Amino acid sequence: MKVIWNSDIVDRSEVKIDPEDRGYQFGDGIYEVIRAYNKHYFYLDEHIDRFFSSAKKIEMNVPYTKDELKDLVNRLLVESGVNTGNIYLQMTRGVSSPRNHMYPDAAVLPMLTGTMTAVERDAVQMEQGIATIVTEDIRWLKCDIKMISLLGNIMVKHEAHKRNAEEAILHRDGIVTECSSSNVAIIKNGEILTHPDGNLILPGITKIVWMKCAEELGIPVIEKPFTLDDLYDADEVFCSSTTIEVMPVCKIGDKVLFKNGPGEITSALQKAYLNEIEKTCGKIS
Ligand code: PDD
Repeated sequence: MKVIWNSDIVDRSEVKIDPEDRGYQFGDGIYEVIRAYNKHYFYLDEHIDRFFSSAKKIEMNVPYTKDELKDLVNRLLVESGVNTGNIYLQMTRGVSSPRNHMYPDAAVLPMLTGTMTAVERDAVQMEQGIATIVTEDIRWLKCDIKMISLLGNIMVKHEAHKRNAEEAILHRDGIVTECSSSNVAIIKNGEILTHPDGNLILPGITKIVWMKCAEELGIPVIEKPFTLDDLYDADEVFCSSTTIEVMPVCKIGDKVLFKNGPGEITSALQKAYLNEIEKTCGKIS
């Protein structure tokens, strides 16, 4: 299996991670997940921009230009032979030896790795939707940084799994923020509501895409905080992320939202999203 290791594409077996790498010791690093369809990345520029923005927020220098990074991820796509799948790109702050919380000096180079996995679109799940639970948002207050320290996200995802659900919808004091690994939106009386960007949620790239689709369809989108009562009272609910696209929520806890396919607006967004994919990446069979 070919992977990105710093500025090269190498065989996975050649990668050596130091036990004192700060990613390994402190979770001190950032990442991106970018989807490719038909050997073309979808919204690559936006993902690379967010990667740089996350790095800046933690004062980490990216020792590559955006073009160099794009070139590397494109080379991995070709060399991996993957047609439709996800690239996971991660950069840690490099090695601090001996272990020390302080950021190392600028001469210490970050460690870049990237893996590509073939993953088909799950059209069946997109029609059936996912079951969710509601739980407290136990994460820190800089959720806009796409960082690798994901323990808070993992714990709530595991809670969802234990309760036979795929995703955890999170709230802070009754205000819905996002999910463990996706953004969330509700639909009420023909309007879409979703939490505004800021420090409490990740500014999703998929959210940018579906908001553009909604605008083209003439569906109003309001970015404002909404409550758990609004969530339970919604006509439709959907999650969004690079890997699940626009994913309808069929269940919140014990409350069933639909059994026979998603609501009208979610379906329209899913179709528009697929169109957007096909515009950049070619026909999806
Ligand atoms: N997760 N919020 C959180 C907490 C996320 O982890 C993600 C993505 C999103 C949606 O972001 P985007 O639309 O840019 O994928 C929102 C990725 C897929 C992951 O960690 O695997």
